[in-house]
Amino acid sequence: MSILGKLFGKGHAALPPVDLGLLKCDVHSHFVPGIDDGAPTIEASMELLRAMHDLGYQKVITTPHSMADGYKNPPEVILGGLEKLRRAVEEDGMALEVEAAAEYYLDHDFLEKITAQKLLTFNTDKVLFELPFISEPAVLLSAVFEMQTQGYRPVLAHPERYTYWETDHSTMEKLKDRGVIFQLNAIALMGAYGPATKKAAEKIIDKGWYELVGSDCHSMKHIAALEAARTEPYLHKLIESGKLVNATL
Ligand SMILES: [Fe+2]
Repeated sequence: MSILGKLFGKGHAALPPVDLGLLKCDVHSHFVPGIDDGAPTIEASMELLRAMHDLGYQKVITTPHSMADGYKNPPEVILGGLEKLRRAVEEDGMALEVEAAAEYYLDHDFLEKITAQKLLTFNTDKVLFELPFISEPAVLLSAVFEMQTQGYRPVLAHPERYTYWETDHSTMEKLKDRGVIFQLNAIALMGAYGPATKKAAEKIIDKGWYELVGSDCHSMKHIAALEAARTEPYLHKLIESGKLVNATL
């Protein structure tokens, strides 16, 4: 423990900030301008992309919300927005690769899109999806089965944020058994969603269940949180675990 740590009673010596460039690729964000609750304008998108670049990322796979009640965002809207982003990045000369998929909310529209094979994927077959925050959906396991039957590889966004799993890991165990990839929101580790979500993320890291880490960045507030997360011991632990596949995307 550092002298300052001893003086002020801190539990551990501060760790140096993790180099996020080691991850190479971010997999969850809201950078397409004006189509969800992320960047409102192309100027805001560019400020966020510049910040991601400066944090060391070489590539971002941005994932606008897609849901029945709210941001519908069919593929043509997302891909049109991606073109806008790519043009702006090229004009700027920024060395950052930009791709897009979506963050699908598990609802009846999503189930229909799975069967119709109309989902936007990343890394060929990966589909990012999220769950309601109120309660575990009854169709979760059948939706996973259907995705896999249609040739998709399900990636569950931020399992640490579903409070109904805080004390009961049985569904998460089933999802891992079935090959679902878990994606951590890195900012959970610095308490961006509160202490319970931080603890939940740390427990999942202890289990070795995360294979992807994402920023879920919507605004510069999230960039500041991401910067702060770099000194969290559990982010170090996760990156050193060798389980993350971000760099292969
Ligand atoms: Fe998100």
